Amino acid sequence: MALSFTRQDTTTTPTAEIEKVLADPGFGVNFTDHMATATWSADQGWHDGALENYHPFDLDPGVAVFHYGQEIFEGLKAYRWSDGSIWVFRPEMNARRFQRSAQRMELPVLDEADFLASIDALITADAAWVPSADEMSLYVRPFLFASESFLGVRSSNVVQYAAIASPAAPYFEGGIGGVDIWVTTTYSRVGSGGTGAAKCGGNYAASLIAQNEGARHGCAQVLFTDAATHTWIEELGGMNFFVVTADDRLLTPPTSGTILEGITRDSILTLAPEIGLAPEEKPLTLDEVLAGIVDGEITEAFACGTAAVVTPIRSLRREVEGHDEDVVLTHSFGPKTAKIRQTLVDIQWGRTPDRHEWMRRIA
Ligand code: PLP
Ligand code: COI
Repeated sequence: MALSFTRQDTTTTPTAEIEKVLADPGFGVNFTDHMATATWSADQGWHDGALENYHPFDLDPGVAVFHYGQEIFEGLKAYRWSDGSIWVFRPEMNARRFQRSAQRMELPVLDEADFLASIDALITADAAWVPSADEMSLYVRPFLFASESFLGVRSSNVVQYAAIASPAAPYFEGGIGGVDIWVTTTYSRVGSGGTGAAKCGGNYAASLIAQNEGARHGCAQVLFTDAATHTWIEELGGMNFFVVTADDRLLTPPTSGTILEGITRDSILTLAPEIGLAPEEKPLTLDEVLAGIVDGEITEAFACGTAAVVTPIRSLRREVEGHDEDVVLTHSFGPKTAKIRQTLVDIQWGRTPDRHEWMRRIA
């Protein structure tokens, strides 16, 4: 039976306070008034869908997620168009990836319709929190975790679903001017047969040591290569990776099971021919990309994802014989990256016809 996320509480932050937050929302630091919740148990299946006031969970210290990390999450955005209406971008893709992540992590699968109903209910209740300023949106974070108190290692018989929302400015402060990326060949994000294609918290926990190493070298994100040989480029800690060539090809590594099947990535591959770029999912070695940048064959590179949108890459930085070496792109924010970014955000903010029917109206 379909879950129903009916509103049970009615907290509303005063408009003046919401406006204050929306004037400078940052990323992921302020949360809206409500949360959608549902529970799954082995004996009852999915039940107790609700839309509640945003509140802390009351969790026993023994619940499995604290010990074994059985958890997944999603990220999508709601956009306010100039006419005041509110839309989300390809949410059914998030719903399906949430299902694939659940399967990989032995968590129960939530119906696509229930996932969509939960975010509809949340965004509708918290419509006042969707910013209208340029480049601002409401970031929605659905997640699912093992909530049974039990220390044996097995999949949990009780699972908690929730969706929360947070007004969001661009993920990288000043990122539109280009970010420096740390290339690690010391650490891996995931290995073959691992959880790379799942959006599970453990992947991000595993990436932090490399992320912090990158930060110590002045970099905003880390580029990971394959765990077995450190030869093939995979993705960044929280974004997919693209390069643009001088002869107008748009290249990104294939989703071979170790990288996340990004929705922004898929959208950019679809849009590329419309803006004169030939998209190709192609295995890329780190060496060929570095050499391509040096000899001018690769002119632009960028990171993409829901949070990052399209963030140009200024340089790839790595340690060579004990010192940092930068391989700098011809453009820190190249014309083709700019065109891709503009084409995508114009669809998301309803400034151009939605030919692919990617936008879903919420309010
Ligand atoms: N890769 C990783 C590891 C991510 O965390 C994300 C962000 O969600 C992406 C890629 C981009 O995916 P999407 O475009 O669906 O947000
Ligand atoms: C997203 O883009 O939705 C992510 O989950 C990535 C993270 C860096 C916030």
